[in-house]
Amino acid sequence: MSAKKTRYFCNVCGHITSRWLGRCAGCGEWNTYVEEVVVRGTSPRSTEAGGGNRPLPVTEVAPVEGERNSTGMAELDRVLGGGLVPGSLVLLGGDPGIGKSTLLLQVAGLVGAAGKKVLYVSGEESVRQIRLRADRLEISCPGLYAYAETDLQVIEEQVNLVDPALLVIDSIQTMYGPDITSAAGSVSQVRECTARLMRLAKERSLSIFVIGHVTKEGMIAGPRVMEHMVDVVLYFEGERNQSFRILRGVKNRFGSTNEIGIYEMSGYGLKEVINPSSFFLDEHAGRDVAGAVVVPVIEGTRPLLVEIQSLVCPTSFGVPRRMTAGVDHNRTALIIAVLEKRLGLMMGNCDAYVNVVGGVKIDEPAADLGVAAALTSSFRERVIDHHTCVMGELGLTGELRPVAALDKRIREAARLGFKRCIVPQQKGIPDNVSEVKIFEAKTLADAFDHMFV
Ligand code: TYD
Ligand code: MG
Repeated sequence: MSAKKTRYFCNVCGHITSRWLGRCAGCGEWNTYVEEVVVRGTSPRSTEAGGGNRPLPVTEVAPVEGERNSTGMAELDRVLGGGLVPGSLVLLGGDPGIGKSTLLLQVAGLVGAAGKKVLYVSGEESVRQIRLRADRLEISCPGLYAYAETDLQVIEEQVNLVDPALLVIDSIQTMYGPDITSAAGSVSQVRECTARLMRLAKERSLSIFVIGHVTKEGMIAGPRVMEHMVDVVLYFEGERNQSFRILRGVKNRFGSTNEIGIYEMSGYGLKEVINPSSFFLDEHAGRDVAGAVVVPVIEGTRPLLVEIQSLVCPTSFGVPRRMTAGVDHNRTALIIAVLEKRLGLMMGNCDAYVNVVGGVKIDEPAADLGVAAALTSSFRERVIDHHTCVMGELGLTGELRPVAALDKRIREAARLGFKRCIVPQQKGIPDNVSEVKIFEAKTLADAFDHMFV
């Protein structure tokens, strides 16, 4: 027996109602309901449920072999928590054109080159386009199967025939299950297709990568329910006009989510950035100019050295302009206010611009001192020695507050040849980093005394 019904799905959280509402009852967002026809059939019940399946003492559950398969890409392996777990479903989200297809085709090529079978299913490109991309990425291994298809049922049949070790679905928004009437990319299709892929992954112990496009609002198009269903959610981020990309773990049922992978997009695909700090500091080396300073930030669990630049110049129009890229605008306004009030640097008649080199986005307060230093250096036309790096959170009274992972930051600076670190007074300052001289500062004024020599 089957019946057709109209239902309204919330685009954001997947909440279902029988009539349209202006505001979602589930998540409170406005104007997110879309109408969809659902066909209710008799859903097949899990065959396991009745027979052998029963609650067990956890100690009697057969242990999973701690097996993880390397994807052949060290950065990706690290973000996944040490490799790909067999039978896991991994969602890779990101803006269109950021390089998701490129990344996964490269992974497919690497796994294929390791002697395993990979099925790369594209609903967006023809097999010839995939071939073209593979040529550009210099992938040629017979173990990699290209397949242009959007019907999930047909794909499942082909998976049974080819029996791959890795399946890539490019993208979930183009896939459809034939027993649902709504269009591909709609909430119920995305949800149903994800559930089917999840089942396929678990039944066959097959690892699956699924690409999901992100809408302008910054979430995976269609429902967030998809994020709840899959095992691992990764985001691929970056500016399109910059060459570097960051792969970030958002959810991981098999590991931690605070690792990131850094890539650079080249003419021949994505390259792993093995030494990210020196990647972002390339141009800084050996330069003494006013308005630039290096700051160690923590991305994931790794330290990364980035250069903050600033330009402060007299305003030619009435209202001074404040522009920032890579650091928070409001935070910068606050830092300028502290500089004016506590150190008497009157920037009220000046435009102030702050930029983080390389398109990196910093969202930790430990970079406050760096922003303050860059602004002051430009305002006073005083150079900060290029062997110096600074860190510290700024309080409203002009005091410097402790930063997390100080040790890691200082060691990274030492590794890259920095000679001086200006840090807040805090516990756990390492005293055995021989090449680096560490200056402890209680306040912003103290820090500047050490900085502008
Ligand atoms: P793509 O993987 O198609 O993005 P997505 O699948 O996330 O939509 O990447 C597209 C961009 O990457 C495109 O603008 C061209 C660029 N690109 C390179 O710069 N070098 C390369 O080797 C490849 C394959 C793509
Ligand atoms: Mg693509």
